[in-house]
Amino acid sequence: MLVIKTVDELQDVLFRVHSAGKSVGLVPTMGALHEGHLSLMKRARRENQATVCSIFVNPTQFNNKEDLEKYPRTLEADLKLVEEYMDFVFAPSAEEVYKVPATEHYDFGDLEKVMEGPMRPGHFNGVGIIVKRLFDWIRPDKAYFGEKDFQQIAIIKSLVRQCNLDIQIVPCPIVREESGLALSSRNKRLSEYEHTQAANIYRILKESLELKTDSVAEIKKFVANEIEKIDVLKLEYYEIVDGETLQPVNSLNDSNSIVGCITVYAGEVRLIDNIRYK
Ligand code: PAF
Repeated sequence: MLVIKTVDELQDVLFRVHSAGKSVGLVPTMGALHEGHLSLMKRARRENQATVCSIFVNPTQFNNKEDLEKYPRTLEADLKLVEEYMDFVFAPSAEEVYKVPATEHYDFGDLEKVMEGPMRPGHFNGVGIIVKRLFDWIRPDKAYFGEKDFQQIAIIKSLVRQCNLDIQIVPCPIVREESGLALSSRNKRLSEYEHTQAANIYRILKESLELKTDSVAEIKKFVANEIEKIDVLKLEYYEIVDGETLQPVNSLNDSNSIVGCITVYAGEVRLIDNIRYK
């Protein structure tokens, strides 16, 4: 496995891989890797002749300076974890990635007007900037993203359409702890108590599937009430949306694809998760 720090070397190496006619799978990450990331890497390994992952805590997608500073950075451990699955790791500095300043502006329309969009102004533009740059430098055939970031996948699919890129976006299922808590790099920042209590998020989402109602208002009320019962959890939002357009629905009969997306604070740590109703 080759660890690459500069864009020049990355493009050089990838030029040779493409010239040899090999298919390339990319797994973009911000490091602090866990089994969720590894599930993407295993799949990328199975489906491609060459595999690349990026490890880069991207400053332009953080609208909160403290969140950026506290984001876990564990490069040495990450490199050991991915060795088995990746041919190349791109682990640049921020100076390297933003040698050309980040002036790009993407318009994701209604996709960015809901949920994480208003809560984290500028976040999706920052994601668009880094992902487009990675796509341009690496030119992967397939790129793998975890479904925990459900809205992010819709945004990246939109980026691919807008920029007319020939890249297949491969969404991969959420990986959970035995408790049900979705794996996330942010889980490392939870206290032991918060960690235990955070498992209630998925329990409550699953219970909401069993309610005998099609009314989204009733389902949202149930989830909000149940979250409120857990002392360290604070609901930011629970939205039930069309799985393609991400626009809120009123009834589970409104679309063939419906997903509930939740953001909850466990103490100071912001966690997201989602569940499919249909
Ligand atoms: O999902 C993430 O880890 C990040 O948003 C991504 C896609 C690697 C871009 O920095």
